[in-house]
Amino acid sequence: MARFAREAARLADASKFAEQARRAAEAAKHLDASKFAEQARRAAEAAKHLDVSKFAERARRAAEAAKHLDASKFAEQARRAAEAASRVDREQVVAEASRFTEQAQAAIRAAKNLAELERLRIEYLGRSSQLTEVKKLVRELPVEARPEVGGVANRASRDLEDAIKVRAEELAFIEREARLRAEAVDVTLPGVPYPKGSLHPSMRVVDEVVDFFVGLGYRVAEGPEVETDYYNFTALNIPPGHPARTMQDTFFLDEGLVLRTHTSPVQIRTMLSQEPPVYVVCPGRTYRRDSDPTHTPMFNQIEGLAVDRGITLSHLKGTLAAMARHVFGEDVKVRLRPSYFQFTEPSVELDVSCFVCGGSDPKCKVCKGAGWLEMLGAGMVDPAVLEEVGYDPEEYTGFAFGMGPDRMAMAKYGVADLRLFFEGDLRFLRQF
Ligand code: DAH
Repeated sequence: MARFAREAARLADASKFAEQARRAAEAAKHLDASKFAEQARRAAEAAKHLDVSKFAERARRAAEAAKHLDASKFAEQARRAAEAASRVDREQVVAEASRFTEQAQAAIRAAKNLAELERLRIEYLGRSSQLTEVKKLVRELPVEARPEVGGVANRASRDLEDAIKVRAEELAFIEREARLRAEAVDVTLPGVPYPKGSLHPSMRVVDEVVDFFVGLGYRVAEGPEVETDYYNFTALNIPPGHPARTMQDTFFLDEGLVLRTHTSPVQIRTMLSQEPPVYVVCPGRTYRRDSDPTHTPMFNQIEGLAVDRGITLSHLKGTLAAMARHVFGEDVKVRLRPSYFQFTEPSVELDVSCFVCGGSDPKCKVCKGAGWLEMLGAGMVDPAVLEEVGYDPEEYTGFAFGMGPDRMAMAKYGVADLRLFFEGDLRFLRQF
């Protein structure tokens, strides 16, 4: 392969020689002996590198002739040497170039991967490649040979660059195909089972109740679990020192804060933030110092509030009866019993007919033979509460209710101990 560069180098030397010989011939014309000798010596020197015995021999003879000052002979020798030198075959350079290009293209086409291709690119087109060397030599060539040799070198560069580009695309395609084949996924293999969670039994009831009210056009409202004494008690008509406070075994925090004992403070927050009409349902966690089979320190509540013109107790009963049928089944009946809450007047408790025995089984595990289940507290919003939030009790009336979805879930799923709901035992929770 180095032959392409060697040929170009030889051509460069030949042109040097030809020039020397031409000058010697010029000197010979004027019979300037010392000059002949010197020119002839230089020509011989150039011929040495030429590696062409023919030139060297001619030059040697020219030098010999010069010694004897045989001017005409010398002039003839020099003329022939110059002629021969200028004929140094440019075609050979071109032939070498195309052989070089063909071999390099074949090697490029055979490159097995992109790394090998890059190695070949450096070898053929890099800074110390033959092509670069040839391009540097062009300047030393006889003027008439430059365009040809330069053109040949540039064409070789372009051809090799094209070949590399084509092969690079092929190799990229081949490598991508191989990678895709290696990464192929067998979609017929059985999947890895994904451990699915399930809804907590209390949350199932919360969802059913909230869904029901959202279906009636109620909005979901929420409030903080750390609540002020004012929202949790005072604004609900339970002023400081009132005996009703002692019923709600409260967790007191610093600075007048409590863990909310019910979701009723969300009623106050909602009414303070908007004008009537109000229709909201408010699920959330609540806290009391209590722990036995039917009480846990944390439990859930769902509050409801409707304030509008002309709201009556019959709206309350009809709404809650429809809700009970939605959660416990079409056949359940409801009844209201008088009760007492500070923030409602009148106040009631709502019972639901036993959805298991319907009142027919004296040994029923769910209603214990009573036929009825206590469901929730409710009532007509006390005018004092409406006044506290700036609503006019002469214009607006409302009903409110609060229920315990944990208790409802106990009844619905037949669980005897509420504490199981919050102990986090997966064997229990996975059943729902
Ligand atoms: N907040 C009461 C409690 O936790 C339940 C309650 C009763 C809420 C009557 C109400 C209501 O909105 O009107 O015991």
